[in-house]
Amino acid sequence: MRIAIIGTGYVGLVTGACFAQAGHRVTCVDVDQPKINLLNKGKMPIYEPGLSELITKGRQQKALDFSSDARAVAASTEAVFLAVGTPSSGQDGSADLTNLYEAIREIAPALQDGCLVVIKSTVPVGTGEEVQRLIESLRPELDFDVASNPEFLRAGCAIQDFKMPDRVVIGADSERALDALSGLYCAMGIEPTRVVATQRRAAELIKYAANGFLATKIAFINEIADLCEKVDARVGDVALGIGLDCRIGRQFLNAGPGFGGSCFPKDARALAKAGAEHGTPMRIIEAVLASNETRKRSIAAKIRAASGGDLQGKTIALLGLTFKAGTDDMREAPSIDLVQALVEHGAIVHAYDPVGIERAKPLLPECVRYHRTALDAASGAAAAVIVTEWDEFRHLDLARLKRRMAAPLLIDLKNMLSAEQVTGRGFKYCAIGNGTSPTRDHAFKVWSKPRATAYRTGDGTGRRPSISLNSKVVAAE
Ligand code: UGA
Repeated sequence: MRIAIIGTGYVGLVTGACFAQAGHRVTCVDVDQPKINLLNKGKMPIYEPGLSELITKGRQQKALDFSSDARAVAASTEAVFLAVGTPSSGQDGSADLTNLYEAIREIAPALQDGCLVVIKSTVPVGTGEEVQRLIESLRPELDFDVASNPEFLRAGCAIQDFKMPDRVVIGADSERALDALSGLYCAMGIEPTRVVATQRRAAELIKYAANGFLATKIAFINEIADLCEKVDARVGDVALGIGLDCRIGRQFLNAGPGFGGSCFPKDARALAKAGAEHGTPMRIIEAVLASNETRKRSIAAKIRAASGGDLQGKTIALLGLTFKAGTDDMREAPSIDLVQALVEHGAIVHAYDPVGIERAKPLLPECVRYHRTALDAASGAAAAVIVTEWDEFRHLDLARLKRRMAAPLLIDLKNMLSAEQVTGRGFKYCAIGNGTSPTRDHAFKVWSKPRATAYRTGDGTGRRPSISLNSKVVAAE
């Protein structure tokens, strides 16, 4: 199939590269000419693991190319995927659809009969109908379909998410559009049982509801983490204890400095706005947004308290700046508010990130000093703070770190290190939701063993242990 992808953000590029690999002829389009020039030179505008290799292969096989001429590309394609940004507009949080409608106006005159227009961008409910009406008004004679096919890729593992999705949601009001889209995905090896075929409006809402629900899980566990600190419990154990209930699920229960990125905050705001507009307030989402905002600010107070109650003139080293590991994306990263608050408290901020520094610079105060390594950033620091869960921080040389720092204080906002390991190296270790005695290990431990071994055999009772999933669960000590 000849496919056009409009928008070369991480959704557009990943979608284009994966369809090209699956044997389609794909052109990715963007109005940003310098970005297209970069892509045509084989360079990447974003950091996404594996994407550069996939794009190079697609270009070599002449299955993938890049253009800024949307109209010319639309004239020769059977399916046009719209993957343009829909940022928050103004103060009210609603989605700004300017890019989407501009793209439609640009391609409409060139669309061919029988073409399929697919909205991958995250858009408010009813946008599919608006797009349909707009194309009808511009091309009254055209035979076309508009489908909604929201994307659930995570930055940092986007290719894997695209190729092996939990589900593919297709919102189509015609059988022809549904058949074409489901055929496209099933031909890539995605099982038909993973395809959720629904109305366009439901598909549009699924995207917001999914991101809203995941954001809610995070905000919930972050508040539980705060309570853990007060009642001397460990949030990791609580997350495990509730997450093994498959009605709840283990994922997205990692406490941290608050959620960020280009999706959760924006989509939660848009969901709250949609609820307000329709007279059905999204009170849970509103609370999630408020909780997350408060959290981002309160983290600075936590660092101040751990550092002795005063940050004036103290050097604080931030390890990681991007909103999560595996990406250079800084949009709504918790580090932005954190740095601002630390600077307001009088701290001198030094920072290191393996890939995010260039994108961080325009968003952070000018006084921030950047370094090439975590050790360099931590030199002379009163505290080193892990803000992003980059894998390399798991392997920090703690002995060298301690020698370089002014005081051995490690604040782990991602709970990625072991308290025993860090305190054993002479550090004061401060994590999120770890109670007041972080070194005490009264945790429940899980290790993976085949299901059969999770049953109490040989005790004559044949009874199952109190908890039994795919793992064996025991109380350690
Ligand atoms: C999110 C969704 O997970 C994707 O399914 C969706 O396609 C995407 O938004 C989108 O709408 O385009 P993404 O923003 O890439 O993906 O990142 P996530 O991995 O979901 O993380 C979002 C934020 O939540 C990050 O700041 C992360 O650190 C935080 N988070 C995540 C936690 O604090 N705790 C967790 O347990 C999980």
